[in-house]
Amino acid sequence: MTRPADQDPLQLSEVSRKVGVPASHSHAMTGSISVTSAKTEDIGAATRASIVELCIAAHQEQDFQHLFLYIPSGGRHFLAYREEVLVSHAVVTTRWLQPQGQPILKTAYVDAVATLPAYQGRGCGSAVMQHLARNIADYAIACLQTDRTGFYARLGWEVWRGALAGRGEQGIIPTPEQRGVMILRLPQTPTLNPDAELTIECQTGRIW
Ligand SMILES: CC(C)(COP(=O)(O)OP(=O)(O)OC[C@H]1O[C@@H](n2cnc3c(N)ncnc32)[C@H](O)[C@@H]1OP(=O)(O)O)[C@@H](O)C(=O)NCCC(=O)NCCS
Repeated sequence: MTRPADQDPLQLSEVSRKVGVPASHSHAMTGSISVTSAKTEDIGAATRASIVELCIAAHQEQDFQHLFLYIPSGGRHFLAYREEVLVSHAVVTTRWLQPQGQPILKTAYVDAVATLPAYQGRGCGSAVMQHLARNIADYAIACLQTDRTGFYARLGWEVWRGALAGRGEQGIIPTPEQRGVMILRLPQTPTLNPDAELTIECQTGRIW
């Protein structure tokens, strides 16, 4: 799971250029961890394969082999490297939350948060999530669903306490059994009541 410079045209310096910010702004160094970001469409085949391997290894879930079918373009990926090894990943896609009584909010929805098992517990995942949080200020709010609420709570995320539901073509689909939906307030987030109902547009195969 190394970053093969000879096979993959996407170098870290190129990532900085493609996302249009100076390298010093796009890379956050935490010890010897380098965190960078890239759009899905700018990520080459070798790095895509490394991301898929990393997610399968961390989650023990083969469905991650289809990650780039679910996210063919438009994702914002956050990648942590230790030396030349891709050790940690998260991806943001755009979804649409609506807290009760509020307009629909442009939402940075976070998926595929993963650290290689051998590198877990060393701050890599935290570094990725902190870098992510600093680079989604163009969104109104961030959201994710997790079984590891403690990990995200330490980083400022809040469990949504109110009722949860999907917005489908036929109307509201309550999801009363759903647990672990968390939000992160961003500079543009309006005043929220985390006890109110929260809905999200239904996607093929999932609500949250
Ligand atoms: C969840 C996950 C992404 C976290 O990644 P990570 O790189 O291990 O994250 P960190 O090392 O930053 O933090 C993990 C824990 O180690 C602790 N930690 C971080 N640096 C540490 C250090 N130097 N020494 C000791 N502990 C440390 C953190 O406090 C954190 O504890 P917490 O979860 O109780 O808050 C990773 O464990 C993973 O891939 N898990 C499997 C898949 C999964 O569950 N994904 C998330 C579901 S949405």
